[in-house]
Amino acid sequence: MDAETLKAAAARAALDSVKSGMKLGIGSGSTAEHFVRVLAEKVAVGLDIIGVPTSSRTEALCRELSVPLTTLDETPRLDLVVDGADEIDPVMDLIKGGGGALLREKIVAAASERMIVIADESKLVDKLGRFPLPIEVNAFGLGATKVAIETAASRLGLSGEITLRMAGDGPFLTDGGHLILDASFGRIPATRRLAGELNAIPGVVEHGLFIGMADKAILAGKEGIREIDAKAEHTIKTELD
Ligand code: 5RP
Repeated sequence: MDAETLKAAAARAALDSVKSGMKLGIGSGSTAEHFVRVLAEKVAVGLDIIGVPTSSRTEALCRELSVPLTTLDETPRLDLVVDGADEIDPVMDLIKGGGGALLREKIVAAASERMIVIADESKLVDKLGRFPLPIEVNAFGLGATKVAIETAASRLGLSGEITLRMAGDGPFLTDGGHLILDASFGRIPATRRLAGELNAIPGVVEHGLFIGMADKAILAGKEGIREIDAKAEHTIKTELD
């Protein structure tokens, strides 16, 4: 079974949580695109939902497939967001932003009552950090912001290469017109503290650590679909950090 088949299976399983009348956040990335496609099939046969896309790319796909859209200005509270992730740890903290949509994804997740993460099981890790952490930064003061990130990371005993994400000959630009620094820190023992340190740096717009935001993960593997619920474990995680 290839990765795309598994991603599509996770996306289809998430549909069980979508009910008529819901206001949805619609994630970004290849797994979320599978979700948009199965959602569009249901909409075509009468499912009544309205969605806020988390990227211009997801917005374009929703429009192409006639998924009804709204904005957080018109609809500031959502029932559920369904999104992918780059890494998921056992208490369902996440690294996101591999596709560069982390800022909108986090805004939409924060506006949603519940967050369901869909992925193939290769995304489940025992500790976050194998995947380089995407950090969205303002272009102004890039060098100073990079040094501030290195300094903050070193306070937590973290180091590693921090590279500017490129797209062809130029820097990758997010939907918000910002840059992305990918930080290869390796395993991150204190994710909450790192998130706080990064949030305190003025040039950092947002980072890809999604702490305590996901309620459920739907993971597809060769053995089938596995669902992990976050609630109980989040309490334990808070105590440990
Ligand atoms: C985009 C994201 C994606 O959800 C994440 O990169 C996972 O993507 P994929 O489903 O293609 O593996 O955070 O910013």
